[in-house]
Amino acid sequence: MNDNTGMSPLESAFHASAERHERFWIFGVLVMLVLLTIGTMFYVVHDYGLVTGTHSYATDPQAPAREAAFQDGKVVRTGPNAYAVYMVGRAWHWSPDVIHVPEGAEITFYVTSTDVLHGFEIQGTPVNLTAVPGVVGTVKYTFHHTGLFRIICNEYCGMFHHAMVARIIVDPAGTP
Ligand code: CUA
Repeated sequence: MNDNTGMSPLESAFHASAERHERFWIFGVLVMLVLLTIGTMFYVVHDYGLVTGTHSYATDPQAPAREAAFQDGKVVRTGPNAYAVYMVGRAWHWSPDVIHVPEGAEITFYVTSTDVLHGFEIQGTPVNLTAVPGVVGTVKYTFHHTGLFRIICNEYCGMFHHAMVARIIVDPAGTP
């Protein structure tokens, strides 16, 4: 890029070297940007469970929420010590909004939305996924102590986003 005519050999050598360094850093920065972009996308998708925890996609965004399990399903027993919870997020509440599960049981949450993105986060646990219309996200969790856990929406979804709270009451093991 530089016009090297009229430069001393030392100057020419300096410019040639500087250009090599420039090319190296331009290339290096591009590589870092690509890695950062891929890394961020992987982290977000993985963290939100959009790919790893996805149970089904539907072309009709309302379809999963119309499934029978999401209509009246609260907590369904699926094994000796396993339960499934079907949860629908809609502006601005979760349904069901109060559930009971036993301590020590493996709980599989199936989560979807009927309208916009909602965040399904169970406070005090690593459970955190996005409720997406047309998509059923799944996450498994076992509560190891009894008490009240709140499901909060951590994805801004409108005026009453902050009020979008549901409750999980973990009962002592052996409770039906
Ligand atoms: Cu639902 Cu924020």
